[in-house]
Amino acid sequence: MANSINNILQAFAVEFDRRFDALLTDGAEDSHSPLFEAMRYSALAPGKRIRPFLVVRCCELAGGGREQAWTAAGALECVHAFSLIHDDLPAMDDDDLRRGRPTCHKKFGEAIAILAGDALSVIAFTLLSDLKVEAGLRVKLVRELAQATGWSGMIGGQAADVVGQDQASSRELLSYIHARKTARLFEAACRMGAMCGGGSENKVDDFARFGLMLGKSFQIADDLLDVTSTTHELGKAVGKDELAGKQTYPACFGLEESQKVAHSVRDEALACLAGMGEEADDLRQLAEFVVDRKH
Ligand code: IPE
Ligand code: IPE
Ligand code: MG
Ligand code: MG
Ligand code: MG
Repeated sequence: MANSINNILQAFAVEFDRRFDALLTDGAEDSHSPLFEAMRYSALAPGKRIRPFLVVRCCELAGGGREQAWTAAGALECVHAFSLIHDDLPAMDDDDLRRGRPTCHKKFGEAIAILAGDALSVIAFTLLSDLKVEAGLRVKLVRELAQATGWSGMIGGQAADVVGQDQASSRELLSYIHARKTARLFEAACRMGAMCGGGSENKVDDFARFGLMLGKSFQIADDLLDVTSTTHELGKAVGKDELAGKQTYPACFGLEESQKVAHSVRDEALACLAGMGEEADDLRQLAEFVVDRKH
């Protein structure tokens, strides 16, 4: 099972990356500038592409065609790439390696890395404004991504992650940080995909809750991998969360309990798909992959 979702994700990434490259190049006037190079260096570096996969598959499962979803999928990946560039900066997690390569600021310097992140965050919304959908839906999609990205979403979660380094850990604080810094974008990916696919309100809510729970289990697994995996396997440094005093599940509950929580949150994600048939099996496999993954 794990192998088959791996193959599905790999095939998806090949097709997505081709389109994403074109979206990032489209209309570029200054394609030799360090800023442009830095944006492309980070955004097109090999990632798992889980968020765009969620957009495209939720669109299809909600009744839409794949073609409708690529641009929204690109927008999600732009926000994700922005979050990674800034997450790695010396003022944040201070990491030298990402996706098996030097981090953006190591390669281009801090100023260009900050600006590349900024530029990607804005490109996401340019892409959404170009979507060939009805105007009311376009505005809703812009609003959803803005909220999932901003102070009550990923950026707010990253701020809480930084401030939380000095705070006593608690299940509530951890859950707050994980929901915002990671799960909110997963939720937006599923919600936006299902909205592009023309799903009913109930269906859109089911997909959105699936994304939220998937994102929560994803970040618990990320915390676990920082303790149990290797730099070679992950393409990023390991063992840094504890050194930085991060709020993580292993630090708060230990490895075994964290695994249990990850699996029970996965079950909550799976329950959101209960009303769907075998056409949603790849999402079910993804939920298994997310908690049992090695990278
Ligand atoms: C890493 O996300 C950042 C977190 C939210 C933990 P991914 O593990 O999805 O990173 P890529 O895109 O595959 O590199
Ligand atoms: C980052 O969490 C979440 C983001 C919004 C980027 P981490 O700091 O744990 O992600 P990694 O481990 O560096 O990928
Ligand atoms: Mg971080
Ligand atoms: Mg980090
Ligand atoms: Mg991590």
